[in-house]
Amino acid sequence: TPPSQDDLKRVAAHRAVELVESGMVLGLGTGSTAIHALDRIADLLRRGALTDIVGIPTSKKTEAQALALGIPLVDLNSHPNIDLSIDGADEVDPHLNLVKGRGGSLLREKMIEGASKRFVVIVDESKLVPRLGGSGLAVPVEIIPFGWEYTLGKLKKLFDGVSGFDAKLRMVKKEGKEDIDVTDNLNYIVDLYFEKGIELDLGLISDHILRITGVVEHGMFLGMATEVIIAGKDGIKVMKR
Ligand code: A5P
Repeated sequence: TPPSQDDLKRVAAHRAVELVESGMVLGLGTGSTAIHALDRIADLLRRGALTDIVGIPTSKKTEAQALALGIPLVDLNSHPNIDLSIDGADEVDPHLNLVKGRGGSLLREKMIEGASKRFVVIVDESKLVPRLGGSGLAVPVEIIPFGWEYTLGKLKKLFDGVSGFDAKLRMVKKEGKEDIDVTDNLNYIVDLYFEKGIELDLGLISDHILRITGVVEHGMFLGMATEVIIAGKDGIKVMKR
């Protein structure tokens, strides 16, 4: 039988964990791919194949998972120099630019991965896109709750005239009821949709989004990944910057 998508995620994660050395400070990613890296790191720690590892979790969820697995944790304040971060992504373009945050944890991910000497992204081949936003899925933007409709309006205005563009406040279903999705940092998320992906200059788009005062951060990770490990049906490929 062919490998499942989850098998491919695990293959990419295990390859990335080969880069982990004893004594390292690690950024611990969030999501269904990154959890395989956590499992593997915990396994190597238990067997004594790795020692003196400390991790910095990129979300509350990852923090809980790492604690349950017995991975020692520290924080960014005490450990601002991270040796290696391993995390998944929602999309990867040919220049190693990423979309992250469909799971909601883009802000802590960007802080921690931005503080890392090496940032290794692990994906199955379904995450590769010619252009960010090109899978028809969201490009998330974390905004402060205060004046959220105003900020949403500003984001819509920014892309006024871009055909097929849409922006929506992210909602979540809790006990059968629709509610505003709240991040670990108690903020909201606006999801941007680009029918054909972002055809404009990414750096410019990033600057314009970040200049809106109610915006905290966006989920485009530009020029941050040092390598991407892609697991596919035909094996593993590595993209390097
Ligand atoms: C979390 O908010 C995201 O940035 C994840 O890192 C990303 O969504 C990848 O998740 P999966 O590995 O579950 O696809």
